[in-house]
This record gives sequence, structure tokens and C-alpha cells, in this order.
Amino acid sequence: MKASNLQLGVNIDHVATIREARGTDYPDPVEAAGIVERAGAHGITVHLREDRRHIQDKDVFALRESIGTRLNLEMATAPEIVDIALRLRPDEVCLVPERREELTTEGGLDAAGMSQDLAGPVQVLKHAGAVVSLFIDPDPWQVTATAELGATCLEFHTGTFCDATGAAADLELDRLIAAARQAHQLGLQVNAGHGIHMRNIGAILEMPHLDTLNIGHSIVARAVMVGMHTAVSEMLGEMAAYRGGRAESA
Ligand code: PXP
Repeated sequence: MKASNLQLGVNIDHVATIREARGTDYPDPVEAAGIVERAGAHGITVHLREDRRHIQDKDVFALRESIGTRLNLEMATAPEIVDIALRLRPDEVCLVPERREELTTEGGLDAAGMSQDLAGPVQVLKHAGAVVSLFIDPDPWQVTATAELGATCLEFHTGTFCDATGAAADLELDRLIAAARQAHQLGLQVNAGHGIHMRNIGAILEMPHLDTLNIGHSIVARAVMVGMHTAVSEMLGEMAAYRGGRAESA
């Protein structure tokens, strides 16, 4: 049986959330990123929000200089943020919807409804050399629109599944599995993220064709208890069980 080569991108936004809560210069996201990398993660993910509630401009540029794995910038398509991305040159960008009042990214991008607004940023960022990903809900029309926009990759919003229980969770997982198959058929790299933790990762690993999971809150929360190195190692340990997800016939 094929060994797992599922990748982990660790979202370190909430290291900065703790710093911003007191306006201190600690904890330092750059130091956290180093520990995350030494623990074996495959990339560092940050969301430079327009309201700068956690990660700041200086953080993304310092991370660009310091990290040896991949830098994945989650971002809205606001012109100011696109300009920063073009100067920063992250390895990957993940376009996300953003609303000021939300606690975290709620729901995926409406790639189908906003294709005209997204086409420019997708092309500009691709041209700058970034792998461009769209953060979408697992709806067939969103997958089709993502492929039509010329994105290389997509990230399925797993939050609805992670919040659901019982039969609703089973239905959400089926949606994620079907959408992952469709995305793979269309030649898109399949990533997933949002709300993943040590108790639901087993079900997430039923998704086929997974390349990368982007996980933040639960790893930073666990790091408070056991340290960042251990928190990342524990998640990688769970991910090592990945064998390509639920079989097509199942
Ligand atoms: N992927 C995307 C696109 C996100 O917006 C977020 C949250 O910033 C994550 C992954 C990580 O989600 P969580 O912090 O719930 O693990």
C-alpha cells in the first residue's frame, strides 16, 4: 500500500493573535515558523487580513526571508493586498473571502458568482510565479468555476463538515469526497482546511486525492499545552495514516 505523502501547512496566525492581544513583540511568528518546520511540516500559512488583526505586513516579509519550506499567503483580492503579494512573492496564494466582522473565514469564495472579479488577480498572481489556490465550498459548480479561472489548485473549506454531527456530518463528508474527485478529474491540486483537529482528522483522511491540509487553530491551541514541536508532530503522526482516501467504489 502506498505510504502517505500528505503535506501539512501550519497556519500560524494565532501566534500573532496572542502577540496582538497585548501589543507586545512576543510570541514571534517567525520563531514559531522555525519550530513548525523543524517538527517536519511542509509549509507555513498566514492570512494577511485587511484589518491586520493578527499577522502584520512586517511578519509576512520576515517569514519570506526566514522560512525554508513553502510560504502560503491566504488573502482577499483587495488591491492593497494583491500589491503586497506581488512584492512578497509567496510560493502559494490562497484567495479567500473576507468580512470584517467574522471570527474567522466563514464559507468559501463564490468562484462561480465572482469569476469576473477573480480572473484578474488569479492571472496576475500566477504570472508572478505563485501557485494560485481558491478556497471554496465543496460544490460542483464552484469546482468547475475554479478550473475555468485557471487556478492551479483549490482548498476545500472543511469547516461545515467539522462543525456538523451525526447524519449531517456524513452528508458533508460525502460532499467533500465527491468534490475532491471532481477537482482531481479537472487536473486541480486538492487541498483542504478549516476546523481540522485531532478528533476529526480521521474522517478528513477519507477525502481522496489530498495533497495538503492547512491547519491552524487546533495546532496553536495544542501548542499552548504541549509545545509547538509536539503539537505539529502529533498532527503529522495522524496524517501518516493517509492512504488516498475512500475508494471510488465505496
Ligand atoms: N485554510 C484557510 C483558507 C483558512 O482561511 C484558514 C483559517 O485562517 C485555515 C485553512 C485554517 O483553519 P483553522 O485555523 O480552523 O485550522
